[in-house]
Amino acid sequence: MSKTAEIKFEDKTYKLPIVVGTENEVGVDIGKLRGESGLITLDPGYKNTGATTSAITFLDGEKGILRYRGYSIEELAEKSSFLEVSYLLIYGELPTVPQLTDFQNQIKVHTLVHEDIKKILEGFPSNAHPMGVLSSLVTALTAFYPESLDPNRSAEKVNLSIIRIMAKMPTFAAWAYKNEIGHPVNYPDNTLDYCGNFLKMMFALPAEKYDVDPVIASALNKLLILHADHEQNCSTSTVRIVGSAQASLYASISAGINALWGPLHGGANSAVINMLENIRKDGGDTKKWMAKAKDKDDPFRLMGFGHRVYKNFDPRAKIIKKAADDVLDKLGVNDPILEIAKGLEQEALSDPYFVERKLYPNVDFYSGIIYRALGIPVDMFTVMFALGRLPGWIAQWKEMRENNEPIGRPRQIYVGENLRAYKEMNKR
Ligand code: SDX
Repeated sequence: MSKTAEIKFEDKTYKLPIVVGTENEVGVDIGKLRGESGLITLDPGYKNTGATTSAITFLDGEKGILRYRGYSIEELAEKSSFLEVSYLLIYGELPTVPQLTDFQNQIKVHTLVHEDIKKILEGFPSNAHPMGVLSSLVTALTAFYPESLDPNRSAEKVNLSIIRIMAKMPTFAAWAYKNEIGHPVNYPDNTLDYCGNFLKMMFALPAEKYDVDPVIASALNKLLILHADHEQNCSTSTVRIVGSAQASLYASISAGINALWGPLHGGANSAVINMLENIRKDGGDTKKWMAKAKDKDDPFRLMGFGHRVYKNFDPRAKIIKKAADDVLDKLGVNDPILEIAKGLEQEALSDPYFVERKLYPNVDFYSGIIYRALGIPVDMFTVMFALGRLPGWIAQWKEMRENNEPIGRPRQIYVGENLRAYKEMNKR
């Protein structure tokens, strides 16, 4: 017998079905509530509202659990590769050796982009933020692959669109960086693996040999895995709602890139480094900045702290914090802001304001320190987040399309003026 919930309003009681997930999460299905009662629910920011059911990622904010298709983030970060995790997220299962080899080869043959896209890139001034360049180039794919505009094509054709953007995103990301520093772009080198090719496109200089540092490639691989999906976060919800209108995969991904750009979301990794640098320049007085973060009259927030879902710890932050120590040690980098970050974390973890509000370091708190050690500039950090999140966005868009989900259209409670007559200008 399936369970129900009841809402009593005025003299009526409304029974609503209960939905229970495979990890025993419980939701009230309010699909019929408005039709039966005229009532809607109100939840700004959807803090307590489920938008969908999904089989892709499970996270438990209280226990600090994160799993992709049932596999723990700890195991995947330790044992897997970014393309293997991408395959898992997009197609639902870990690939066999032939399947992964085929996936890698399909991506390799699509890493090059049309030369006319380079003309679009060259139209951007070097001070253009790389996130704006990235979302523009992704949208431009719709012009070069017009058949991608129809999301209802055969599974094979949709899959080709998926392969193309998986393959071209690293090229776009590296080219956005080269545009920013005024250097000529590097073309993809398909003799290298995904991370090696990206690093070479990013850092190779004309007429100079570039050797991929395995430490850097391994750290990048881990960071991309840790960012690959995170269920219905702000940018993924954006991808889903744009895709629900049957906009193309590329239009939906471009929208997700722009949502991720926000400093409260993916833009936080850049904001963390800028914050730590400001604290360092200010003399490293972390207590002063902690007080600012707690001061309601001060707009300053401790960037990299807090999370809409994790109210204990962000498992990704734990893995990245350890990786930060390893990578800086292996690279022989001594970054003074790492110590400031650790000092802030220690203070916040024992400060009642943060403890009461369950504010812990999130994925963005330490990731920027590693990106910086890898030689990646601050305003490219969110581009790195987008590169990692791409397979998650694709998987969520694909699931939404395959489940034939309806167009997203939330309701509202109107609180404006009641009906009033038009007044002639001279009577206002
Ligand atoms: C990501 O959703 C995802 O899954 C996102 C993400 C993903 O993988 O896709 O995990 C990636 O976006 C991580 C979050 C990165 N953002 C930041 O690090 C920015 C700093 N953090 C915050 O702005 C904030 O914590 C949010 C936006 C992350 C979460 O906001 P919530 O859950 O809506 O919390 P809130 O704004 O309602 O704050 C609750 C209280 C408030 O104080 P009171 O009104 O109760 O007195 O906590 C305070 C807030 O002022 N607070 C902070 C704080 N975060 C919340 N105070 C100081 N510093 C902070 N960072």
